[in-house]
This record gives sequence, C-alpha cells and structure tokens, in this order.
Amino acid sequence: MIHTRLHSNKQSAAQAVAREIADLIKIRSKSGKPTVLGLATGSTPLPLYAELIRLHREEGLSFRSVLTFNLDEYEGLGADHPQSYRFFMEANLFRHLDIPAANIRIPDGLAKDAARHCADYEAALRDAGGLDLQILGIGRNGHIGFNEPPSAIDSRTRRITLDALTRRDNAVFFGDSTQIPQGALTMGVATILEARRVELLAFGEGKAEIVARALNETPSAVCPATWLQHHPACTFHLDAAAARDL
Ligand code: GLP
Repeated sequence: MIHTRLHSNKQSAAQAVAREIADLIKIRSKSGKPTVLGLATGSTPLPLYAELIRLHREEGLSFRSVLTFNLDEYEGLGADHPQSYRFFMEANLFRHLDIPAANIRIPDGLAKDAARHCADYEAALRDAGGLDLQILGIGRNGHIGFNEPPSAIDSRTRRITLDALTRRDNAVFFGDSTQIPQGALTMGVATILEARRVELLAFGEGKAEIVARALNETPSAVCPATWLQHHPACTFHLDAAAARDL
C-alpha cells in the first residue's frame, strides 16, 4: 500500500524527507548502528540534497555513520564525465558532507564485466544489512532507478537498455542527444522493494499522469513503479501539480 503525502511545494517536501533521514541517522547512530541509504539522481532529489547539506552545515548532522548505495549509472560513463551519476552525486551531495569515501557505492558504468559487477553490488548491499531507506524519483514511463518497462518484480541489479522516452527526457543534460548512452546499470525492482522504507518524490505536472498510474494501475512490469504497491512502507511525496490526477 502506497501512502501519499501532499506538500505545498518541493522545498517543504524536501524538508520533510530530510528530517526523516536525519531522525533515522540519529536514532541508529545512538545505538552504534550505521544507516544504509539508497539514493537517486535526476532533478527531483536536488532540493532534498540541498536540505541535507544545510542540516549538516547548520545543525551538525553527521554522515560519518551513513552508507549509501545509488540506484543506477549510465553505461560507459566514468566518474570524471560531467553527466555520470557519480559526478552528479559528488557535486550535489557527497563533497559537501562528512561521509567517508569508502561508505559510498555507485554502480560503475565502466565495469568490464557488468553481470559480475552487478552481482557484487547486490552482495555488498546484503553485507551492509540492506537498505534502511530508499529515495526514489519516477520516470514518465514509470521507471524507478533505470528499471524500464518491462521490469519484473523479481529483477535484480543488472544492465538494461534505456527506453526511447527516457533518452529523450534526459537529453537536456547531455546537450547533444547522440551523446546519451544506450544502456545503464540499475538496482532491480526486487532490490528496491527490499528497502525497509521507500520515499518517492515527484513534482510538477509532467509527473501527474505517471503518479496516478503508479498508484491506481494493477501492478505489472509494464509500469515498474506500480510494483511499489506491494511495499509495506512506501510514501509518495507530491506537490499539487504532481497530484493533479489523483
Ligand atoms: C532518471 C533516473 C531516475 C529518476 C528519473 C526522473 O533517468 N535514472 O532515477 O528518478 O530519471 O528524473 P527527474 O527527477 O529529472 O525527473
């Protein structure tokens, strides 16, 4: 069952989710436990990352006990490529926090043996104790991470071919659309569903239709975000525009 939470704007949604993350980190670190966060890229989580940075700078929230696993990475892009998700995460979050570099995991777009790398990624996640909380955005075709339609409920971290709509939507970041990679490495649907909590953010009217589908359609691989209906603790954080069709 998915809970929906309507926020007056994306900043207040970001504040609410950042506060939940801060509370989780504080509770777990008090008892000496790490906090394992699943992180997303795209424009949607940017206000959340800005708020986490503010909490670190102004309220002394420490990320020393936090382990992070990013959802996905473009195939063929390394850390020094400005459109790689590794580059994005460093620029928009990690370099502004006190998180140790060894605590950060992002699929490696340059991995020579992608299948092996993806299996290792799953193993590292299991060794860390699984995800305490997963942040998600949503693609207009219903993808979560880069689980493009069709993505099965039991899919695991793997290489995937990007959908035409996704490549078009993400072309803005690349300038020249021919530069967009054909593939990506992504955590699977099953990987995401195993997170103990899932917080999905969606803002703006461009997401209204897919948000309504994710909440109302019968779960199926055709719209991978519908699989979240099976999660016991998933919240969609929306602004009024994204909630328009509900
Ligand atoms: C990207 C990412 C997703 C993200 C989605 C939406 O391609 N792989 O994790 O949620 O597309 O992006 P945005 O937040 O910019 O709308």
